[in-house]
Amino acid sequence: MEKVVVKASKTYEILIGENLLPEAGGRIRQTTGGDAVLVVTDDTVDGLYGKTFTASLRQAGYRVETFVIPHGEASKNAENFLAILNFLAEKKFTRSDVVAALGGGVVGDLAGFAAACFNRGMNFIQLPTTLLAAVDSSVGGKTAIDLPAGKNLAGAFYQPELVICDIKTLDTLREEIFRDGCAEVIKYAVIADRELFAALKQPIRPQLEKIITRCVGIKRDIVAQDEFDTGLRQLLNFGHTVGHAVEACSHFAVSHGGGVAIGMAAESRAAEAMGFCDAVCRDEILLLLRMYGFDLSCPYPAKRLCEKALSDKKRRGDTITLVVPRDIGKAELLPMNVSELPDFFQKGM
Ligand SMILES: NC(=O)c1ccc[n+]([C@@H]2O[C@H](COP(=O)([O-])OP(=O)(O)OC[C@H]3O[C@@H](n4cnc5c(N)ncnc54)[C@H](O)[C@@H]3O)[C@@H](O)[C@H]2O)c1
Ligand SMILES: [Zn+2]
Repeated sequence: MEKVVVKASKTYEILIGENLLPEAGGRIRQTTGGDAVLVVTDDTVDGLYGKTFTASLRQAGYRVETFVIPHGEASKNAENFLAILNFLAEKKFTRSDVVAALGGGVVGDLAGFAAACFNRGMNFIQLPTTLLAAVDSSVGGKTAIDLPAGKNLAGAFYQPELVICDIKTLDTLREEIFRDGCAEVIKYAVIADRELFAALKQPIRPQLEKIITRCVGIKRDIVAQDEFDTGLRQLLNFGHTVGHAVEACSHFAVSHGGGVAIGMAAESRAAEAMGFCDAVCRDEILLLLRMYGFDLSCPYPAKRLCEKALSDKKRRGDTITLVVPRDIGKAELLPMNVSELPDFFQKGM
């Protein structure tokens, strides 16, 4: 088992290893105490891992309640958020009790926001079961729900008390969902770690414990310096400005990982065209993305993507900050006036 300690507004541990779920109850009891645990999960994950997890909680002496949402992004909504709060109240939960998110980023974001709000904040535990949740959404304390006007529009910064990542659970992921997570892993390698980039050229599954630990470590280091996302944390958006625009243009038929892969390719091409990195660096990034099976041809013209990007919530006034690779393992922020964006997008195509 590997351990990463996060020192943000809260200090907490992220545990990464095989078969951690059957003993998770005991670890949660040691970390938070409390009498009752609300397990928030989705129907797919509940069917696969619900029993194992609740048994371990009961064994640790907890009263266990479960709130199951249908799987998929559509569940990350205000109705479910309120329903969880009402359920907590009805079942007489207090601040010292626990909300545990067992699932991917959808479950984690929704449960985390509910935990942040119930009684102005109760104990929150993340048990990520997708690669994306393991390396990204379970770390760093962003929680959110979607509003009809857009994704993640309501939420809070709320750090968990503990993150337990049982990598055995990743075995049951559908291939395309696993690959979505790989896009984020590649992102970490490009922005911060040349050695990780080299490791990704070998089959990833046998190296998961090491690779997840490294990604989480990178995110931890960045979040420690910029918990509330006002500067450096924007490095984690590499590939996401173009990627979000591709997702939006496709009405979310292109997955997040698929969009980010296209985005990383486009942003690397533009970076090379503008002289931030050389062609070798650009080509290495494109090659690795293709090795993971990503289709990098961009299905939308630069002009349409650019219009979408300008309505992105990451825009600050007339400035939008892009991320450009300097070399493998090294990236920097490139703030740009919105008038320069069409040219950047064009160079990325
Ligand atoms: N908070 C953050 O910092 C942050 C960062 C990145 C993404 N996100 C959010 O994360 C969400 C995406 O997360 P996701 O990709 O994990 O999606 P998800 O939670 O919808 O999971 C994807 C699918 O995998 C299934 N699944 C989960 N674990 C499984 C397992 N072990 N075996 C088999 N199937 C399993 C789920 O039922 C679901 O159908 C988005 O809502 C995004 O906004 C948040
Ligand atoms: Zn992402």
